[in-house]
Amino acid sequence: MRAIVYTENGDPDVLQLVERPTPEPGPGEVRVRLALSGVNPTDWKSRRTNPPGSDGQVPDQDGSGTVDAVGEGVDPVLVGERVWIWEAAWQRPHGTAAEYTVVPARQVVLLGAGPSFELGAALGIPFLTAHRCLTVAESLPDRLGPGALTGSTVLVQGGAGAVGNAAIQLARWADATVIATVSSPRKAQLAAAAGATHVVDYRQQDVVAEVRKVAPQGVDAIVEVSAAANAAVDARVIGLHGAVAMYADDGGAEVTVPVRAQMTPNARWQFVLVYTEPERAKAIGVEDVNAAVLDGAVRVGADAGLPLHVFPLAETAQAHRAVEDGAVGKVLVDVTA
Ligand SMILES: NC(=O)c1ccc[n+]([C@@H]2O[C@H](COP(=O)([O-])OP(=O)(O)OC[C@H]3O[C@@H](n4cnc5c(N)ncnc54)[C@H](OP(=O)(O)O)[C@@H]3O)[C@@H](O)[C@H]2O)c1
Repeated sequence: MRAIVYTENGDPDVLQLVERPTPEPGPGEVRVRLALSGVNPTDWKSRRTNPPGSDGQVPDQDGSGTVDAVGEGVDPVLVGERVWIWEAAWQRPHGTAAEYTVVPARQVVLLGAGPSFELGAALGIPFLTAHRCLTVAESLPDRLGPGALTGSTVLVQGGAGAVGNAAIQLARWADATVIATVSSPRKAQLAAAAGATHVVDYRQQDVVAEVRKVAPQGVDAIVEVSAAANAAVDARVIGLHGAVAMYADDGGAEVTVPVRAQMTPNARWQFVLVYTEPERAKAIGVEDVNAAVLDGAVRVGADAGLPLHVFPLAETAQAHRAVEDGAVGKVLVDVTA
């Protein structure tokens, strides 16, 4: 098969297109003939820092395609099913930037006939992270679905980002009021297209004042991409039993929180890493995200606030570079091209 592999850490040009044997699914595994690989910041960060094994590492966690073989103990009824894949490359060598990958059976999720492979490849990392961020507050349920967040207000810091977009879409599916922050009019359009009820330009407007207009008692959850930059704002708008869910260190590695002011609402400051979240939370996240997909409630593309940028397999290095340079929207690799 054709695959992208890196055998040393470094710049995108360590990614090489090679021919290698098609992997066989072991016990409990399935093999997927990939359609698209989804690229996330975690993929370039891994490429830069996580030493690959001796046979090299195929990059990228997320993908979509069709199950074409199953290993021992896996129901062969899966063969031929269209699926999306989560965490293919987490502590495994078989990422999704290849014609085939093998993953444990629980890491493929049935897409059915309707949803596109583009959507499938955009789900894993961003939507599972967003799900976790939206469910860690004590004041909120641990499952999402229509009506689950009725009467709740969510603040999404960075609403034009991939995780931000996913958080807006999932929270709106669950009937929350969603306030999203952005840094420009163009990003404001994207956050609105994703479904945000209110959009605040954090460069032009007073975020605390704008949030308080919508939620005088504060918000239930904050989906936070830059805790270092936004902690002072978050601390002033988090509501009773709410949670600030910090999923990235964009804009600064350390965070300062005013202790007493956060004792008053019994606020939670929750760190989130999708790979190591509790197993039950991950299982629920996968189920709920797929329910949103099958409901037609989550979408990709510019009219969903997530413009697509598709690269052929041989240009995976350019795809990684685009994500590393902060591409707005979703970067995908067409492994069939
Ligand atoms: N913990 C996890 O499990 C997990 C999972 C997924 C992603 N991540 C991490 O999360 C980060 C974002 O990932 P992504 O895929 O969503 O990236 P992305 O699509 O590039 O989005 C990042 C967004 O954050 C916004 N932003 C940056 N600083 C901000 C600030 N101070 N206030 C408000 N918004 C701000 C950016 O827009 P402006 O700069 O224009 O505001 C941009 O829209 C990456 O560092 C990634 O590695 C972590």
